[in-house]
Amino acid sequence: MCQENIITPKKKVLSCIQPSGMLTLGNYLGALKNWVAMQDEFECTFAVADLHAITVRQDPAALRSQIYSTYALLLALGIDPEKNTVFIQSHVPEHANLSWLLSCNTQFGEMSRMTQFKDKSAKHPENVNVGLFSYPVLMAADILLYKPDFVPVGADQKQHLEIARDIATRFNNIYGDVFTIPEPYIPKAGARIMSLQDPNKKMSKSDDNPNAWVAILDDKDTIIRKFKRAVTDSEACVRMSEDKPGISNLITIYSTVTSKTVAEVEKEFEGKGYGDFKMAVGEAVADTLAPVKQRYDEIIKDKKALEALYREGARKAEKVACKTYFKAMKKVGFVI
Ligand code: TRP
Repeated sequence: MCQENIITPKKKVLSCIQPSGMLTLGNYLGALKNWVAMQDEFECTFAVADLHAITVRQDPAALRSQIYSTYALLLALGIDPEKNTVFIQSHVPEHANLSWLLSCNTQFGEMSRMTQFKDKSAKHPENVNVGLFSYPVLMAADILLYKPDFVPVGADQKQHLEIARDIATRFNNIYGDVFTIPEPYIPKAGARIMSLQDPNKKMSKSDDNPNAWVAILDDKDTIIRKFKRAVTDSEACVRMSEDKPGISNLITIYSTVTSKTVAEVEKEFEGKGYGDFKMAVGEAVADTLAPVKQRYDEIIKDKKALEALYREGARKAEKVACKTYFKAMKKVGFVI
């Protein structure tokens, strides 16, 4: 009888996002929309990974404003800071501290094999810093401090989650059980959004062509203009197909935003041309993002209220992080 009253604790989820520049429609549909969806089912911890951002050179004033704006945008998207723990990574010093313990238990060889390190050091040959090299160890610390069951990550971060699992397993084997080994979380409806100008590339704000991406905070006219200019093929039939990456990308976007299936979308636009379809996608995206932008504009105006929220988020995060960190310190042999 009593059994019925036992509430099974929610599974835990953790994810972080870097405050580097404008967040795009790709970030929204590929990751952040799922964060919003997960908050009912899971106990969620979300952070703005500002420490990770300085692995590439940042202008201090721009970095500061991007940290604020990324935090505000998470709230504007509907992430509830009361229900979840939402904080700024650098406000919880255990991330950097644990990262040191983990660094001393991570091999140079393992880090050298990380594909993102190889890519980024090729892209910034003038600044191949040690932080860029050990970035996955800091990411492992972000994760392991909160003992999450799941970490939602995109394809480009899978290798980093794998190494976090390896580091945790090794640490537990040497020192005894400290960390939970997290599983990757593959969302039911995770969308991979491609560039509007080159649909074979992922949509990215670092693209030199601003027409290639839509920012979450773009206004309606800009969004519609970018979709009108989206690169498609010369055929004019709205149908998902591997050899038509441009139109397929637009179909993915439209179906994710409207929650219609691909078949429904194809049916809706049967006999219609690309022009009509591009306009419809632009309108649908703009309508979805308009309330987000409106909430964002309100939240960012009130720095005091924003500060109260991120301070409280850090306090909640630190309570959990502290416990794991001290346990790890003790196991390694430090005097507490
Ligand atoms: N490296 C991730 C990215 O660039 C951001 C990140 C930092 C992260 N720490 C994390 C993601 C912990 C998941 C879990 O996208």
